[in-house]
Amino acid sequence: MTKKPAKAGSKGTPRARTSGQKGSADADGTPQETGKTEDLAPDTMPPGPTMTNNQGVGISDDQNSLKSHVRGPTLLEDIMMREKITHFDHERIPERVVHARGSAAHGFFQVYEDLSDVTMAQLFRDPKIQTPVFVRFSTVAGSRGSTDTPRDVRGFAVKFYTQEGVWDLVGNNMPVFFIQDAIKFPDLIHAVKPEPHNEIPQAQSAHDTFWDFASLTPESAHMLMWVMSDRGIPRSLTTMEGFGVHTFRLVNEDGKSRFVKFHWKPAKGVCSLVWEEAQLISGKDPDFNRRDLYEAIERGDFPEWELGFQIVEEEDEHKFGFDLLDATKIIPEELVPVRKIGKMTLNRNPDNFFAETEQVAFHTGHVVPGIDFTNDPLLQGRLFSYIDTQLRRVGPNFHEIPINRPLVPVDNNQRDGFGRQTINKGKVSYFPNSLGGGCPMHQPGAAAAFRSVALKEPGLKVRERSESFSDHFSQATQFWNSMSDWEKDHIAAAFSFELNQVVDEGVRNRTMNEILVNIAAELAEMVSGATGIEIAPAGTPEAPTPSAPTPSGPLKPNAASLKSPALSMDKPPPTIKGRKIAILGGDGVDDKEVQTALLLYAKEGLVAELIGPHAGAVEGASGKQLKVNRAAPNAPSVVYDAVLVPHGVGPALAAMPLAQRFIHEAYRHGKPVSVASDAGGLLEAAGVPEGDGVVVAEGSELLTGLLENLSQHRFPRRVSVLKPS
Ligand code: HEM
Repeated sequence: MTKKPAKAGSKGTPRARTSGQKGSADADGTPQETGKTEDLAPDTMPPGPTMTNNQGVGISDDQNSLKSHVRGPTLLEDIMMREKITHFDHERIPERVVHARGSAAHGFFQVYEDLSDVTMAQLFRDPKIQTPVFVRFSTVAGSRGSTDTPRDVRGFAVKFYTQEGVWDLVGNNMPVFFIQDAIKFPDLIHAVKPEPHNEIPQAQSAHDTFWDFASLTPESAHMLMWVMSDRGIPRSLTTMEGFGVHTFRLVNEDGKSRFVKFHWKPAKGVCSLVWEEAQLISGKDPDFNRRDLYEAIERGDFPEWELGFQIVEEEDEHKFGFDLLDATKIIPEELVPVRKIGKMTLNRNPDNFFAETEQVAFHTGHVVPGIDFTNDPLLQGRLFSYIDTQLRRVGPNFHEIPINRPLVPVDNNQRDGFGRQTINKGKVSYFPNSLGGGCPMHQPGAAAAFRSVALKEPGLKVRERSESFSDHFSQATQFWNSMSDWEKDHIAAAFSFELNQVVDEGVRNRTMNEILVNIAAELAEMVSGATGIEIAPAGTPEAPTPSAPTPSGPLKPNAASLKSPALSMDKPPPTIKGRKIAILGGDGVDDKEVQTALLLYAKEGLVAELIGPHAGAVEGASGKQLKVNRAAPNAPSVVYDAVLVPHGVGPALAAMPLAQRFIHEAYRHGKPVSVASDAGGLLEAAGVPEGDGVVVAEGSELLTGLLENLSQHRFPRRVSVLKPS
């Protein structure tokens, strides 16, 4: 019988812990045994040789229930069956009310230099320390089993297991939010979730209730621009930026506080899908982003992000023309540069999805000394919401679940509740006490003790929004102004797709005439052309607005000229490591060329796969058998980033509708296509012209040309998505 390894806490109270911080980075990037991996080890269990029930009693047979005779009724006495089935009946916990669909990984964070001038947080002070992290990426609107590639915001939640306790940076892949005050969050989520009468549509904002809410909520204008841009459909979780969104505070040992915005900058750059591709992936591979993250880590292509600070001195709080407490505003990077202060590497997949990814519980209120909050009313509401939601979803002792527990000991007078793990000794569970020697004691002077920044709060107690929150459109306009031509095309197409799904004419009109026209006339005209929604001529009454609860203030006079080049994605990524290349093969393919391609692309860190008519192998021109990675009917073009057609198969593929479609879709989605000189007919049959990333070539140029084109990610100007062909 296999026994679970003894708990590490068996000798200590409440749990014997190692310091949790180990070692320094291996120069060759070998996965590090971080402190959290070691901490989790006693709770992990490989499958053992023999089966027991949950009390450790050996099981003779768990495939046949106990019956009164061989064809008789099952007996209530069958304790083995009842235990197995009741456990199964209770396997699910409530899914997250938002961000239910997620994927996660372990890793570590390391600061580049001592930042004690700005923060006393220990994880930012010692460049030798690797702080373990657990990161969960998520979509917002869909259920747990929904697709990875809807148009949506992505959650980017990082749990840092520091030597001073847990810090959760619970952010998104967009730096702003739909609403300014947390009290509106249930309304936003009710509007975007499937409509309550028929639970349709799943994981989509393209429906009446969302746009009804958005059209009545002008403060959402800036966030709508982000979600309708290609940022709403990331190519990979590893090609997304991350943002803490709110303005937080950094506090140093002297008690000096500064404002800070947190940024995650991906080493792989910011790259996205296109909308048609994202929709097709939803059907072909709903786990597309999850699979990509998992496989990258398994093959040692560890995703990395640099953490950046935008720091604003307290005395500069009011110099921006917008309010730092308003979560619908960014601080343009051109005004306050992002200072890169450290790097996060994800190097280990979870062992068990439920135990780790599902049970991890983030909370904006989990902070360590040196990090503090601001009065941002969205953040203030979140400080309440997350602990509340964790209590319901994972219970009052969620902090004791292995993935959530800090690396440092926990000691206080909280007791009992469902699932309590710690066996607190002694009779004292209150403070002050004399019977326990006063323990556990407060730590008023200790550096490790959290003390809130002391602030003066002048003013009247009111239920109001500050006037400084009232400009809802200037930064939405700034976003539009900062886009390249193809990015504008994609944004206008996204608004058009969504509004063409909306049935109610009042909602369509209001979105056009109270939101889009206030962002940019150009955007409104593009969307009007693609949706048939008329732009109300100046001076005519617009669609009626039934009591918009947050009236918008005037546009900034200079809004039309605002621009922040950092917002554009129109730049080649720093690396294309991890991109997937489809090599279309078949019997008679030039096997030497295929092998050279596989070697070359593997050397560049790319994932090249040979596609054949069926699984198994194809016979190359030299008679050699080549292993097929995927059968053509199971290998849609949308899950690849580029396509290569080697010599020897072009004429045969030209006659195959599946191959024509593969090439045509790759072309429509802006992907590099390189075909051998005998495959020109395939391009013709697929209706794909040469040029702009489509290459017909010979020899090494065929293989390297594809690489060069792939280094741009995509050729987004080939097809206007606004006017589908
Ligand atoms: C800046 C705005 C916001 C950001 C960046 C954000 C981010 C996130 C992220 C990343 C998660 C998923 C955590 C995970 O991976 O488990 C999450 C979950 C959640 N958020 Fe937010 N959120 C925001 C606003 C709000 C607001 C205003 C509320 C409520 C007032 C809220 C309530 C929740 C709840 C209830 C969950 C589910 C948590 C769980 O069950 O684990 N969020 N949010």
